[in-house]
Amino acid sequence: MTESSMSVLVTRALVPEAMQALDGGCEVDLYEGPPEAIPREELLRRAAGKDGLLTLLTERVDAELLDAAGPQLKIVANHAVGFDNVDVPACTSRGVLVTNTPDVLTEATADLAWSLILACVRRVAEGDRFLRSRRPWIWGPSMMLGYDMYGKTLGVAGCGRIGQAVARRATGFGMRVIYHDPVRLPEAVERELNVEWCPFETLLAESDIISVHTPLLPQTRHLFGADAFRQMKPTAVLVNTARGPIVDEPALAEALRTGEIFAAGLDVYEREPQIEEALLDLDNVTLLPHLGSATIETRTAMGLLAVENLLAGITNKRPRTLVNPDALR
Ligand code: DGY
Repeated sequence: MTESSMSVLVTRALVPEAMQALDGGCEVDLYEGPPEAIPREELLRRAAGKDGLLTLLTERVDAELLDAAGPQLKIVANHAVGFDNVDVPACTSRGVLVTNTPDVLTEATADLAWSLILACVRRVAEGDRFLRSRRPWIWGPSMMLGYDMYGKTLGVAGCGRIGQAVARRATGFGMRVIYHDPVRLPEAVERELNVEWCPFETLLAESDIISVHTPLLPQTRHLFGADAFRQMKPTAVLVNTARGPIVDEPALAEALRTGEIFAAGLDVYEREPQIEEALLDLDNVTLLPHLGSATIETRTAMGLLAVENLLAGITNKRPRTLVNPDALR
């Protein structure tokens, strides 16, 4: 079978360059419905008979979807570095390749984590909302005070590619950086980044700012809950640009409301796209609509990589960023 006789389902329009890269490569079934994710029933129906699926983090790729697609399915090319939406063992056992889009989004996501860190520590979004409320104001020595960054401790929870890029940026702010990760970095990397490994409890107790960069796994679900917030400083800031369910949102809202921690910045949500109602009423939380990788350069690179992987997979070539090499047989 030639590449162009293969058919693929793309579950949402990608940036134009990535859509062009698909042109002529295969028959493309593109979901162009409303901006919401493709409805589940439609996904199951349109996946049937496809050789490849290009999915987003909003699609659950599980045994039901793989069975609906059929035994000819060769690849699920996920347009995200995170692939917690994909049941990888179910794909592997059916010989279906899974790919993600690592590396190309590392720097953009680290920049966004820092945008949230600064927004929280210096109350940027709160200040903007305040002025837009049109309330009278006058400069004052005690008005809307945040904290200095200089000399403070940044705690990185999960020190993979993005965590390391976040740590690297802390040098410019004159901060000490500690990290917790089940896998300790090689000593040379720790030295180069100027970071110290510590147990999770130390990260909670000593950090002025915690930035979350762990993948979503059973053991990281609600890693930040009531118990963790109790151990954090009342002046601490928590930023999550990884995956929503790593933070227990009702517990976070309570910790922010009672002043157990100072502020939080969230780019991802437990029940995305829903936002915990209690958070929406709080001034000490900055909320973004999952913008971590949302730059023109990065989304172009992600789209092109996802398409490259998809086309490789349907033509029996090894995709560049394969998650499950065991599926190659
Ligand atoms: C990812 O890639 O996992 C992000 O959450 C979206 O860019």
